[in-house]
Amino acid sequence: MNLPGLIAALALSASTADAQKFEGLAMTPPMGWNSWNTFEINIDEELVLGVAKVMKESGMLDAGYNYIVLDDGWMTRERDANGDLVPDPEKFPSGMKHLADTLHQMGFKFGLYNCAGGKTCAGFPGSKGHEYQDARLYARLGIDYLKYDWCDTGTRDAQEAYTTMRDAIYAAGRPMIFSMCEWGTAKPWLWAKDTGHLWRTTGDIIDCYDCETRWSRGWKKIADFQATNEELYKAAGPGHWNDPDMMEVGNPGLTLEDNRAMFSLWCMMAAPLIAGNDVRNMKPEVLEILINKEAIAIDQDPLGKQGWRFYGDPRLEIWVRELSGGDWAVCVMNPSDEARECSVTWEHVGGLLPKKAQIRDIWQKKDLGTTDKLPTVTRKLAPHDVMMFRLNAIK
Ligand code: GLA
Repeated sequence: MNLPGLIAALALSASTADAQKFEGLAMTPPMGWNSWNTFEINIDEELVLGVAKVMKESGMLDAGYNYIVLDDGWMTRERDANGDLVPDPEKFPSGMKHLADTLHQMGFKFGLYNCAGGKTCAGFPGSKGHEYQDARLYARLGIDYLKYDWCDTGTRDAQEAYTTMRDAIYAAGRPMIFSMCEWGTAKPWLWAKDTGHLWRTTGDIIDCYDCETRWSRGWKKIADFQATNEELYKAAGPGHWNDPDMMEVGNPGLTLEDNRAMFSLWCMMAAPLIAGNDVRNMKPEVLEILINKEAIAIDQDPLGKQGWRFYGDPRLEIWVRELSGGDWAVCVMNPSDEARECSVTWEHVGGLLPKKAQIRDIWQKKDLGTTDKLPTVTRKLAPHDVMMFRLNAIK
């Protein structure tokens, strides 16, 4: 082999090794906790350690919530003399490496946030022009997950920006989940399969059902209102997920039914399950939703196919999701603001569902028998409430 050939072959094998390191992550949607929805930039070491302790003791870690991610606000307003980002010493007096080590010892993985622009959305230093330097810092700190935002990017091309940061992570040599947060602006579902492990599909979520501000929308609108997460179901798969934003489960603007319904739809959509509530002060019924193992198993199903809304009108929605082994998940929702009788007849669901199956009720946690004996389930559902089933195929 001549010299240029040898160089090309070496470069190819190096990039294949990097890509493999990257691809093994997030084979199911990432799970964890992120500080933004509740705390915005008011974050510190004590909060993170308190959250981690509760997540471990409450069973959240065992249920799969293993990434703790600090969003915007973890650093000082200026880089240091070497151009490095500086974790805020007042907020994190023991240092970020120490925090990472502590979380790792507790069994967690640890994530940080930055942005492809000159500044983050809250005005802290962004990574533009510092990508490789910042990635090396994250690797030194022991970071396992990077959420990468899109403020202050001007005319920057999203594909270039996210590919540059991905390559910087590869070069830094520490496997990290790369969470792209460019709000769906450049349609990452069309090109980012090999760039990030998850990409936001919309602007920001807020803790209401369907309210809307200039920038933010309630969870139901994020889920399925006009060209949002639901419609993109074909783009998701192992290692590359649509991200309808962090959960609002347990936050003040959601009722118990909203909490259950939001969680159910996030599971139906194979969404990353990133809790965004103050887990230190959560009600038992909120914890029970977040750690429902059978709902989580639907979200984390290894086939990795995102579900979709099979039927929808203002009074009834039926969502379906194909699972491994020929099983299916079905979620029936009352999207209206009044209690309503809602029903599902298995054979009406487009011939998709298994011919004969055991019906498992995910929220009532009981077996309802087989689909031939119980062809229809009808129940009165409170506003926004759901019933969710797993149909275990009988072969
Ligand atoms: C953007 C993102 C949010 C959050 C904030 C932080 O709005 O979409 O998820 O990270 O920035 O400033």
